[in-house]
Amino acid sequence: MCGIVGYVGTRQAQQVVLQGLQRLEYRGYDSAGIAVYDATAGLQIERSVGKLHFLTDRLNGRTLAGQIGLGHTRWATHGAVTEANAHPHRDESGTIVVVQNGIVENYQELKERLIAAGHTFHSQTDTEVIAHLVGAYYRDTHDLTDAVQRTLHDLHGGNAVVAFSIHEPDKLVAARLGNAGGVVIGLGAGETLIASDIPAVLGYTHQLIFLEDGDMAVVSAEGVVLRNREGASIERLPTLVTWDTESAAKGDFDHFMQKEMYEQPRALMDVLRGRVDLEAGTLRLDDLLLDEAQLRGIDRIYAVACGTAWHAALVSKFMIEKLARVRVEVDYGSEFRYRDPVIGAGAMVLAFSQSGETVDTLAAMEEARRQGAPSVAIVNVVGSQAARLADGGALYLHAGPEIGVASTKCFTSMLATAYLLALRLAEVRGTLSAAELAAHIRELGTLPGKAAQTLEKTAAQARMLAERYYTANSTLYLGRQVSYPIALEGALKLKEISYIHAEGYPAGEMKHGPVALIDEQMPVICIAPRDGVYEKMLSNIEQVHARGGKVIAVVTEGETLAATPADHMIGVPATAPLLNPVLAVLPLQLYAYHTALLRGCDVDQPRNLAKSVTVE
Ligand code: AGP
Repeated sequence: MCGIVGYVGTRQAQQVVLQGLQRLEYRGYDSAGIAVYDATAGLQIERSVGKLHFLTDRLNGRTLAGQIGLGHTRWATHGAVTEANAHPHRDESGTIVVVQNGIVENYQELKERLIAAGHTFHSQTDTEVIAHLVGAYYRDTHDLTDAVQRTLHDLHGGNAVVAFSIHEPDKLVAARLGNAGGVVIGLGAGETLIASDIPAVLGYTHQLIFLEDGDMAVVSAEGVVLRNREGASIERLPTLVTWDTESAAKGDFDHFMQKEMYEQPRALMDVLRGRVDLEAGTLRLDDLLLDEAQLRGIDRIYAVACGTAWHAALVSKFMIEKLARVRVEVDYGSEFRYRDPVIGAGAMVLAFSQSGETVDTLAAMEEARRQGAPSVAIVNVVGSQAARLADGGALYLHAGPEIGVASTKCFTSMLATAYLLALRLAEVRGTLSAAELAAHIRELGTLPGKAAQTLEKTAAQARMLAERYYTANSTLYLGRQVSYPIALEGALKLKEISYIHAEGYPAGEMKHGPVALIDEQMPVICIAPRDGVYEKMLSNIEQVHARGGKVIAVVTEGETLAATPADHMIGVPATAPLLNPVLAVLPLQLYAYHTALLRGCDVDQPRNLAKSVTVE
């Protein structure tokens, strides 16, 4: 959940670290800090509460001299949001600097042990315990790498740790334990970077090494030496990541979320690129590593994810069961990992994760591995832990970095990718004829254009409706069947960026309680495309209307208010029923975006949230 940037090389470290932190601020923005060392100026540390700009204000144009540095933006886990709890933290001697992402689950016990040995602490964080442990071991070993290695053996829980010492000012030592969120090593010319995520290093190199659980990296200007927790040297081949720095920048848009919403047509094309032949009506999923026999042998799929990705997983249930006739169970990662699931033979786990670092989703994949079941990941970030755990293949979204905390382009790309997987399963299992398959593929090929049309046609309406209802204290979203997950997603978008309480509900459930909520103040957004349950949705709309509720209906374009008893209608282009979610969600994203702006909320970095949840 935190952002880490380390640098050693020929440039002034401060500039590289601050720019990297800027690109990682979506990972957490409660506080920020930087440490730079230079033989003359010594160790210089600045920290501040709040977003990164408070730190740059604190620096006030000063440059902390030095070509080795370490920075951090924090999403608080242990200890309040205070300057004393901001990273970097130091050891007892004040000569070793540490930043961390994750949770040291046994930090209290370690802290008591260190206090008993005479250590003095200045923060409530678990991170400071790591710094003191490294310092204590350093007094024995006089070797930072060994001191860090010994420290790792004391830590319980998932952690990413980076340290440097003024006694060895030519190196940074990084380590990754468990699934605390990535550690990326950027290999430049005469310089090397360490970061929590790809965007921080893109401006300097595209050659990246992704640390795995238990890896340690000794980083210098000349490069990196890798070893495992026991000290044995290991090899990790660099990955060439083709994302460009522009794709990680806002461009002409006001917000990353806005940019990413409008990138969806291109992102949908990138999902299909190289995977479908629209002329021939055929598809190929080369990144799916399960062969045809294995795919035919799958009789149950556990679709596991969190948040918006879980909504995509729920949509995939409808797609895969309808097209491939394979049973799909959908689980939250945080629930799946602790319910002692019986995965069993013939089952596979299908993980959905934009970041590929969501600790609860990763745990589900590890449970699959433990029970001998294959797992496939639908994932965006190249080289992420989910991509590496996916022994059945990582189906990359190819969406480019998604910086806005509220997921938009990666959600719709997940839906399109899940549809491709469902079609591949159907093809292998013969539940679709070649002609039917070709028709589905061709309809999928119209999605980017229809998405662009939808954004174009509904933006003004979404904004007008936001202006009408942004003061509402609560909002209800209703949908049936494959539109129900879109009701959930629309509600999540609204609540996570505008802080309005919102709920998604199966429309058929209205009568069993939620109808009591209906009043003239609460907008009710009904997703009612022209599909098999359209008539049912119309009567649900009637029921809301009859009780004075204000209905915004997202319908297939061409419907008329006379036929659809709503107060407002947003029309989206017709498409295959199982693809309606890709288009219906777009005006809901826009509605949430404009509502949040009208309420003065921070669209890209909503309060209390972070882009990647790498702690439980
Ligand atoms: C959605 O807008 C949120 N950012 C959040 O629910 C997110 O989808 C969830 O944390 C899962 O993240 P992942 O896709 O990176 O695993």
